[in-house]
Amino acid sequence: MSSLTNKRILLGVSGSISAYKSPDIIRRLQDLGADVRVVLTSGGAQFITQLSLQAISQHSVHDNLWDKEAELSMSHIELAKWADLILIAPASANTIANLVNGQACDLLTSVILATDARLMIAPAMNQQMFQSQPLQDNLTQLRHRHIAIIKPDSGAQACGDIGPGRLPEALDIAKQVAKQLESTQLSGKRVLITLGATIEPIDPVRFISNHSSGKMGMALVNRCIEMGAKVTCVYANINAALNDKATNIQALSADQMHEVVMNNIDQQDIFIAVAAVSDYQVKTQQQQKIKKSKQSLILELAPNKDILADVCKLPNKPWCIGFAAETQNTIKNAEIKLKNKGCDAVILNDVSDTNIGFNNDENQVTFISKKQQKNISKNSKSKIAEKILNIFIKEFL
Ligand SMILES: Cc1cc2nc3c(=O)[nH]c(=O)nc-3n(C[C@H](O)[C@H](O)[C@H](O)COP(=O)(O)O)c2cc1C
Repeated sequence: MSSLTNKRILLGVSGSISAYKSPDIIRRLQDLGADVRVVLTSGGAQFITQLSLQAISQHSVHDNLWDKEAELSMSHIELAKWADLILIAPASANTIANLVNGQACDLLTSVILATDARLMIAPAMNQQMFQSQPLQDNLTQLRHRHIAIIKPDSGAQACGDIGPGRLPEALDIAKQVAKQLESTQLSGKRVLITLGATIEPIDPVRFISNHSSGKMGMALVNRCIEMGAKVTCVYANINAALNDKATNIQALSADQMHEVVMNNIDQQDIFIAVAAVSDYQVKTQQQQKIKKSKQSLILELAPNKDILADVCKLPNKPWCIGFAAETQNTIKNAEIKLKNKGCDAVILNDVSDTNIGFNNDENQVTFISKKQQKNISKNSKSKIAEKILNIFIKEFL
């Protein structure tokens, strides 16, 4: 069965009699590994209590656009950014009509307008309502907007009617959500990703390195695997768990990384250079530990080979994405990198902001190619990885 591990699902519960099934939907999504938060409409609150949904989801339920406290803790915009997928189950005829019209009349509809997450709805209502022309027209419009519609079950209804409009069983809905998030956009593609901080030895105990943790690179490794790619992960010093579905090769110094990349670049479709590779190495490495003395010590540094530039020069080069960690003139420097190295896209990381980037779980980047410059606002590194790949795939594949 598909997994929802590490997926963030925002469940919208609107005003249908079948809202009594919502706690079970939360449980089934959690069983598949999802973190679930709930937005309850005022209609939904007529059928299920906030307390039940809170107890099952283990998060406070969001039910009011005008709640000052809630806006401070997790605003409707933050909720919209948090979600990988928003599922409305049950989706009432009223909420569906609001979605069609782009209404922002309550918390749920406002969140929907503010999100770029995937959307799924599970309409649930009386069979006559479901088969009515306005409702069917509304569903057609939502389909055109790529909102996935979960087909309701047909059968005996709470009102005594028999026909289509019943909310499907919770497990069935959870499975459809998992399938929706299963992406195969990179299936059949080979991706080589470098990550972590290289280490340049000074002597047997000391080295030159940097603050890179490898977390952004690992997020890209994980996402590429989820999207069906065959991934080779070339890692230096990292503070992140390896994915055993990748071919993992350690390369600690810039020279080692250059060699491993060049030996494995053939047949790759995409090269993503996330590793923070030292620009210099110590010219003469000492074989024995350098003894402390009162004299100042001068280390002569020699420039390292440029892995990204060398891959970009290959006759049959793969698509190349480089990362640029900059502290000043960030956009200009990233554009220079894009041009000078000859890569297809540069992901700019402004590392002067200590709340993002190096060693943090969150990041905020700009995707820069010849054609576009797109800000990807602050989010978890896994979400940033997903967005980078989506933009890249749209432009290049
Ligand atoms: C007893 C009862 C049951 C209802 N069941 C449904 C339903 O299953 N589906 C539906 O679309 N509307 C149903 N409605 C109507 C909605 O609750 C109503 O349109 C409400 O405004 C929806 O609000 P919301 O979309 O903001 O949640 C029902 C109303 C009542 C009184």
